[in-house]
Amino acid sequence: MNHKALLLWIFLQCAAALFSSVLGENAVLKGEDSVLDELSTDGRGSHGTVKYNMRKSLDLEREGCYLQAGNKGRLDECGFNATAKTIFIIHGWTMSGMFESWMHKLVSAVMQRESKANVVVVDWMSMAQQLYPDAVNHTQNVGMDIATMLNWLQDEQQLLLQNVHLIGYSLGAHVAGYAGTYVRGTIGRITGLDPAGPMFEGVAEQKRLSPDDADFVDVLHTYTREALGVSIGIQQPIGDIDIYPNGGEVQPGCALGDVLAVAGNFMEVMKCEHERAVHLFVDSLMNKEHMSFAYQCTGPDRFKKGICLSCRKNRCNNIGYNTRKMRKRRNSKMYLKTRANTPFGGYHYQMKMHVFNRKQADSADPTFHVKLYGAHNDTANIFVDVHDDTIGLNLTNTFLVFTENDIGDLLKIRLSWEGESESWNSVWKNIKKTFWAWNTKPPKPMLEVRRIRVKAGETQKKSRQIQPQRELHFSSESLNVWPFAKQRDFVSNPTRTLGGKVAVISYFSATSHSLSLMGHDYDLQSPDVQKGDTHSKMSVLKYHMSLPVVVGVLLVGFPYSISLAAQWLYGWPNKPGYKKYIEALKPRRIYCLTRAVLETLKYLQYGRLYFQWKSWYKNDKNRKHYEKGITFGRRGNKLDLYHPPHEGRSKDVPAPLVVFIYGGAWGSGERSIYCLLARQMAEELSATVICPDYCIYPKGNVLAMVQDIADCLVWAQESGHKFNFDKDNIVLIGHSAGAHLCALTTLFLIDAREELFIEASKQTDITKAVKGVIGLSGVYNIMDHYEHEQKRAVEYISTMHKAMNGVKNFPYYSPTHLLKEFSQDKLDRVPPFALLHGTSDIIVPVESSTKFSELLTWLSIKVSLYLLPRVDHTEMVTDLMATDRRFYHPIYSCIKQEYRKLSGTC
Ligand SMILES: *[C@@H]1O[C@H](CO)[C@@H](O)[C@H](O)[C@H]1NC(C)=O
Ligand SMILES: *[C@@H]1O[C@H](CO)[C@@H](O)[C@H](O)[C@H]1NC(C)=O
Ligand SMILES: *[C@@H]1O[C@H](CO)[C@@H](O)[C@H](O)[C@H]1NC(C)=O
Ligand SMILES: *[C@@H]1O[C@H](CO)[C@@H](O)[C@H](O)[C@H]1NC(C)=O
Repeated sequence: MNHKALLLWIFLQCAAALFSSVLGENAVLKGEDSVLDELSTDGRGSHGTVKYNMRKSLDLEREGCYLQAGNKGRLDECGFNATAKTIFIIHGWTMSGMFESWMHKLVSAVMQRESKANVVVVDWMSMAQQLYPDAVNHTQNVGMDIATMLNWLQDEQQLLLQNVHLIGYSLGAHVAGYAGTYVRGTIGRITGLDPAGPMFEGVAEQKRLSPDDADFVDVLHTYTREALGVSIGIQQPIGDIDIYPNGGEVQPGCALGDVLAVAGNFMEVMKCEHERAVHLFVDSLMNKEHMSFAYQCTGPDRFKKGICLSCRKNRCNNIGYNTRKMRKRRNSKMYLKTRANTPFGGYHYQMKMHVFNRKQADSADPTFHVKLYGAHNDTANIFVDVHDDTIGLNLTNTFLVFTENDIGDLLKIRLSWEGESESWNSVWKNIKKTFWAWNTKPPKPMLEVRRIRVKAGETQKKSRQIQPQRELHFSSESLNVWPFAKQRDFVSNPTRTLGGKVAVISYFSATSHSLSLMGHDYDLQSPDVQKGDTHSKMSVLKYHMSLPVVVGVLLVGFPYSISLAAQWLYGWPNKPGYKKYIEALKPRRIYCLTRAVLETLKYLQYGRLYFQWKSWYKNDKNRKHYEKGITFGRRGNKLDLYHPPHEGRSKDVPAPLVVFIYGGAWGSGERSIYCLLARQMAEELSATVICPDYCIYPKGNVLAMVQDIADCLVWAQESGHKFNFDKDNIVLIGHSAGAHLCALTTLFLIDAREELFIEASKQTDITKAVKGVIGLSGVYNIMDHYEHEQKRAVEYISTMHKAMNGVKNFPYYSPTHLLKEFSQDKLDRVPPFALLHGTSDIIVPVESSTKFSELLTWLSIKVSLYLLPRVDHTEMVTDLMATDRRFYHPIYSCIKQEYRKLSGTC
């Protein structure tokens, strides 16, 4: 889910960035200098703008010495040594017109590693600092220029092309490709560091870097995620070997997860991932003793499964500078995982496991952790990605285990399993089983494993290679035997078990069951030790078996009473006759309900806020900030109106208007709760804010709610002058169900629905006045949301289906569905949307906003999407109430940014 959201986010941002760069609208991408236009005319096609800056000292502050084709004196001046290696470093497209910081790091790393070499920075800045398509157009000329320089060096100094190494980053990689094409002879090596993708993906070989451009072409791909059909780094393999660290996808340490997803940070993420290729290369220059290996594989998925960790027949290679040249094997894709920072290299292990039976474990695939014990150090418990989400039976399952630290030779492995997750879920399941199977033997879920092998990628040591007489080596050959769950057999007949090939791993809770594999001979030669160990394991097992029984008795009564009470109060499942009670008593329902009820305990944390708003609303001194209880609309509902801040605002200019619609699952909420929020919002947005009540279920259904909100907008049209706000500049902000109502009201008005009982001309006026809708954690597709409620087993307790007059009306009241029915002229009138959603929201899942935003994008309606890490459903509004709340500033910064765009205020 996270991954999908991330992709979508990148998609949206890239769409904006790319299109505006093509249209030349975006100042950031165009470069902020106004001299740019001059530069671009100067630079175009003219020779001599490529400079060859030869570095002679490690002190990078000092200017280098410039080489010039045809100027022989310069060669001596610069101390060019034609018998030494020659390394050209070529930068890529630039926005700033300056070398980015990586350049200094790369140059100094190269010079330290190759102190004798001629290190030359190819400076084509004036041609690179252009709109991207123009810069692309220059790569050919720059490549030719480099070829000319190399040809001259060959003539003048008998330079051996075999000793030449071109290193190009991004667009610079393709420049190097052209240089290789045009030079007389064959360059020794070209390294492409995340070569640029846009306008190079899929083009003919001679128009991009390709294996023919040098004797050996190696490429690092770090940013190949696709957005809008292009990716920043080229995806296809274009060298002799192409290395995709971390699959060329999300680079560790660059993920969005840790940063708030706003535009500035997005550029950082992009830069971080694209530039990672350079840093990996620098790392390979600096950390010669700790090399990172990449392994050939047909695709990232197979690699993630751990299938490809072989070094036979050149299937593995060092990465970066240390990459060994291989016999021509074009487009060989290689993969590895890396750490998040330098040294980037880690250690890969392949684990093979033959599972031949599973009992009581067919529904849930367990989460699976491995702990490796090595000669120097142990790893933490490492989560193992069971890639296809299943562990196959009667076949060898392969997993990839990656550790960041060197643990030395592997001594021992511990596997542990949990239920579906560490949560309650598994505990509950087991309690349930224990409970129902009170008098019978409680069945234990178990996986039966026949054999496990481990192979270290870096050393290529396999379990088989263990020396039999040394107990320091690990083995998994023998492994087959660690029968602690069948230990009764073991005690009575140890030899049989030793000879057998069965290991049983049962999982019950996170820690109680684990399988240890130890040295081959250790197992075989010291059965006593093993037995002792097994005994201690056994007592642990017993302890855990009695615990659930006790906990079960304690815990089962409690959830049943809570859940039955909840269903009695709020509604039984809609099944005929006694069946509803059966449905109501289903353990899954009871469990989910209990969880939902316990979740509401979280609201206790808002106690302080509750008293704050109560006292604020009651205190008459605060009346200067707002008008309380203005009656509007056909049902005589009331609204509160909050004034914008006085300072810096002239009396004559009316303030724009924000209408805030609160949520509450269509069945709760009142305007006084949101007084602090509305007050802060008026302050932050410098706008008049009105917060209307609407008739919630059971007083009215969704249609009545929409009518009330439409009435509120009618009132706004009529009262703008009286309260000094701009009736033609309205932005709707809604939370949760409120966001749904905002979207629905807007669409109904555009559709000029008769059931609103508002004159068509008025509806048109209002439509024109609504400049945008900001949805906070909103529900936009009722069908999807109902499914989610079913998952949480709250669908009968929730007021939603009642407020919608039953399931049959769900499409009718879903903004997503309405939009699909709209004609083009109606779609043209839909105002822009901004959607905010917390990623920790369990009440309305984040997909609600991401899917809606996908739909809007697809329909060419303007939409911005913000996914706020760690924010949950209620925090989205409660944290807008007081400046000291945790997410106050992050959320408002998003709202403000969008509000300014929508309302046209700056
Ligand atoms: C030129 O480079 C070669 C090879 O690295 C080295 O043996 C030689 O000493 C260098 N010459 C000078 C003058 O530095
Ligand atoms: C590239 O430059 C050539 C002239 O050098 C011009 O004819 C061509 O249109 C340019 N292409 C792009 C995509 O700018
Ligand atoms: C051992 O591993 C832990 C992490 O599992 C790490 O923090 C620690 O520094 C390592 N110790 C040594 C000596 O490498
Ligand atoms: C796996 O193999 C065992 C015998 O080795 C057999 O009893 C069992 O039915 C097989 N399971 C599957 C799912 O094929």
